[in-house]
Amino acid sequence: MVNFGNESGKDFCNWLASIKLSRIVVMVLVFLILTPLITHFYLSKVERHSYQVEHGAHSHQDLPEDLNYMTEVDLRVGVQELFRIRGSVLSELRDIEKKRQQFKLEIQSYQKNIEELKQELSHQQTSLNQLKISVEQAQVAQKEALQQNSPDLALPKRLTADTLPQESSPLPRNSSRRCKMYNCFDHSRCSLTSGFPVYLYDPDQYSVMNDGWDIDGFLKTTLKQTLGYNPHLTNDPKEACIYLVLVGEALKDTDDVSENVGNHLNLPALDADALKQLPYWGGDGKNHVLLNLARRDLSATSGDIFSTIDTGRAILVQSTFTQEQFREHFDLIVSPVLGPPGGDVWQECASMLPARRNYLLSFQGEMKAKNGMLSNHNVSSDLDKFVIEYLQQLSKSQTQDKFLFEFECNPASDTSNNIGPQDWALCGTDSSRKSILKESTYVLIFAPTQMDLISTTLLQARVYEALRSGAIPVILGGDQIKLAYSEVIQWKRVVIFLPRARITELHFLLRAIPDEDVLLFRRQGRLLWERYLASVQSTLDTVVAVLRDRLNIPPMPAESMTAISVFNQTFQPNQVAITGDTEQEESLGPLEPPYDSPSYRRNYSLFLVQGHEMWNDWGDPLRLYPTLPMDPVLPSDAKFVGSGRGFRPIGQGQGGAGKEFAESLGGNYPREQFTVLLLTYEREQVLLDSIARLRGLPYLNSVVVVWNSPRPPNSELRWPDIGVPVHIVKAARNSLNNRFLPLDNLNTEAILSVDDDAHLRHDEILFGFRVWREHRDRIVGFPGRYHAWDVNTKNSWLYNSNYSCELSMVLTGAAFLHRHYLFLYWKWLPQAIRDKVDEYMNCEDIAMNFLVSHVTRKPPVKVTSRWTFRCPGCPQSLSEDDTHFQERHKCINFFSQVFGYTPLLNTQYRADSILFKTRIPHDKQKCFKFI
Ligand SMILES: *[C@@H]1O[C@H](CO)[C@@H](O)[C@H](O)[C@H]1NC(C)=O
Ligand SMILES: *[C@@H]1O[C@H](CO)[C@@H](O)[C@H](O)[C@H]1NC(C)=O
Ligand SMILES: *[C@@H]1O[C@H](CO)[C@@H](O)[C@H](O)[C@H]1NC(C)=O
Ligand SMILES: *[C@@H]1O[C@H](CO)[C@@H](O)[C@H](O)[C@H]1NC(C)=O
Ligand SMILES: *[C@@H]1O[C@H](CO)[C@@H](O)[C@H](O)[C@H]1NC(C)=O
Repeated sequence: MVNFGNESGKDFCNWLASIKLSRIVVMVLVFLILTPLITHFYLSKVERHSYQVEHGAHSHQDLPEDLNYMTEVDLRVGVQELFRIRGSVLSELRDIEKKRQQFKLEIQSYQKNIEELKQELSHQQTSLNQLKISVEQAQVAQKEALQQNSPDLALPKRLTADTLPQESSPLPRNSSRRCKMYNCFDHSRCSLTSGFPVYLYDPDQYSVMNDGWDIDGFLKTTLKQTLGYNPHLTNDPKEACIYLVLVGEALKDTDDVSENVGNHLNLPALDADALKQLPYWGGDGKNHVLLNLARRDLSATSGDIFSTIDTGRAILVQSTFTQEQFREHFDLIVSPVLGPPGGDVWQECASMLPARRNYLLSFQGEMKAKNGMLSNHNVSSDLDKFVIEYLQQLSKSQTQDKFLFEFECNPASDTSNNIGPQDWALCGTDSSRKSILKESTYVLIFAPTQMDLISTTLLQARVYEALRSGAIPVILGGDQIKLAYSEVIQWKRVVIFLPRARITELHFLLRAIPDEDVLLFRRQGRLLWERYLASVQSTLDTVVAVLRDRLNIPPMPAESMTAISVFNQTFQPNQVAITGDTEQEESLGPLEPPYDSPSYRRNYSLFLVQGHEMWNDWGDPLRLYPTLPMDPVLPSDAKFVGSGRGFRPIGQGQGGAGKEFAESLGGNYPREQFTVLLLTYEREQVLLDSIARLRGLPYLNSVVVVWNSPRPPNSELRWPDIGVPVHIVKAARNSLNNRFLPLDNLNTEAILSVDDDAHLRHDEILFGFRVWREHRDRIVGFPGRYHAWDVNTKNSWLYNSNYSCELSMVLTGAAFLHRHYLFLYWKWLPQAIRDKVDEYMNCEDIAMNFLVSHVTRKPPVKVTSRWTFRCPGCPQSLSEDDTHFQERHKCINFFSQVFGYTPLLNTQYRADSILFKTRIPHDKQKCFKFI
């Protein structure tokens, strides 16, 4: 027999390792079978032997006979002898039993050893696999690099003009009427790569107004100030592409607005000679833009100050144009600047809900005759007369819809300011009109009665105030007019244009529009209003952007935040190599060197192919972003036919189960990696553990830690070396908004935002990453929450984290999101929201969910749930306590107020990997072992 017990465990291991597993099993089996057999044999041998010793050669069967001849003494001795034998047999049996137990224990420990070795083997196999696929991926990347015969495009040198505009002879009289970009604009000053430099004539320095006229003082200062924030502004007239001249709003010097009223102005406001004296006018005003921004005079045509002036080749920007005067794609119709200089404008807006308001349709206005003569009910055309009669009848008719029509202004209200040439005048004060508009689903706006007017300040102002209050404008005579920036903005989605002759169909049409579309109209109207009309700043930025867009010059890049490391030359981190087991139990993907997402690839094509969306949907036409979550995908055959660079199709395109899946990223987008973005505040050990756990995580590009504490990290800290760069970034101040800083060292589109104490397993992270790649515009992550209607108060939302089959938020404490949303969080979200986050030190994740759902109108995506979010043993996180919850209720309701509605959407769906819970053949692997 093999005596296992005498060998030391280590030798045994070596020995064991050298033989095949199956052989061990066979031996163990043999051992287990032999032990009882041998025991039995041995026992029976002992019995027979002791008997034979006493009784010579007598056989077992003879025993009873022999007993008869024995004496008492013999018998006693014999019995004693038997007892002795029995005792010794028993003690031997005990020994044997002890040995058996011992063997059993040993067998158990060997079995444990075997298990451990098996695991070790599979670990090694996993690492080996990972190494293998890493090598393969590296080879593919290298081959790709070799095959690539064109270098990455570098930015052509910024090419700007370096001369002042050349003096040229003035245009022949009247020929400026035929100006278009091709014959009146000097493209040579504006190369594609020039960045579109804009020069502003300082309105305090260069006056182009006639005596007795001045420009609105508020406009002058605000213009200078707000253009100062525009990245296109340049101080160098030599490099400028366009030159801005502020010419309005022109006011009489007296500054008393009422004095203008009804005056025949002898002198035009604008001085044509002064224009020609402008230093860079160059004889004909090439590339000059004359800005006539209306601010208060809402009369019909007084907004036009160019009608009698020769403006050469200059581009005219104002709110009032006649058909004849307006040169399409050359001049620009703007909305009057009725708002504040800049800043948050959401307070001005009415709530978007309910979809249907008190009045179906409202109108407040009065027809004014020419020359300020007031003539009630005196309308110029039969058609207008018919329209008014029809509407008056409508409001009296038997219908459940409520109308509010005022065709005569209440004499008490001051409308005298608004008297101009024959047109509709406003009734009421700004605030009284606002309160009616907030009660109206639709508001009627009449096109100018003077048919050759395609736009008036009055008309634009009424659209402005309607959109601000969420009343959908219905423009009667809509086929006659043009709204602001109509070369880029699709007004059809915001305003209902109706020819006058369709007045009888109006009621039917308005009733036929369902609530969904009412809200789409209203939402889109608010989007346009906030983005392009609301403030002086938005108006100026839009004017510049429209002109730039005409020339197909890309916007300036959105600035990212410069990441400043907490470390410096004298203070370096202590890095330690970490060894020990990574937690992986399966090969999840190749380990590759950091590979940044390519960015700014679509500078010159984005606005060509998706310009419409940029202006009217999710885009931001004022800035260029490195990449967008909505960037298009190639058709799936393109990657095999010529456009395959960077793609890593699964099984080279043949597809495959778990094994092939782990080897390549697959999907519809080229290979990429993700960045882990951590926000931390004075929990150093928790942070270090979190970082250490990321070692060996495939597709990890780098780790960026935002150090929210004002104190630098302890110099004794031993930072784990996890094989990818770890940046510790100093935050300017302790704020939860810092979780979403658009730092310039975030080099990938995919950002995994995690709390410092979140404990995610590698397979969960990678599955989340793969799911995110298919939902790049959404938040894809783990902890789901929802907003629940408060059934007690019936007027507000409650934040809820209870078990639920429906969710509407995924917390950014463990979620993937696109880098673009970090920019939007800072550049686009109203400041009031970030202020609220700072006030409560809470809710930044709710704000991000609002933002993303608002932009996409989609709910977030929750992925697999087999994980523990909080680390066991970590101090109880603050999110549990009650005030924290109360604050989150308040945040939801406050954010809804800012947005005008609650953008969150519900979802009842969770993503698991495809072969999860599918029965598959033994020779196949699942995509992930556990999820
Ligand atoms: C696109 O614009 C960005 C930002 O200005 C710049 O960094 C990048 O080089 C540009 N790319 C090309 C191809 O011009
Ligand atoms: C040129 O302008 C003058 C007045 O500005 C006008 O009388 C004349 O008809 C115009 N000529 C043409 C050809 O438009
Ligand atoms: C309407 O206005 C015209 C001038 O525009 C005037 O001749 C006419 O008398 C007015 N009619 C009424 C009813 O006021
Ligand atoms: C480097 O950082 C440490 C800690 O933040 C600070 O005390 C030190 O003054 C810094 N040194 C320099 C040269 O900035
Ligand atoms: C969660 O559920 C518990 C028990 O069902 C309930 O008492 C609590 O109010 C719920 N929390 C919220 C925020 O609804």
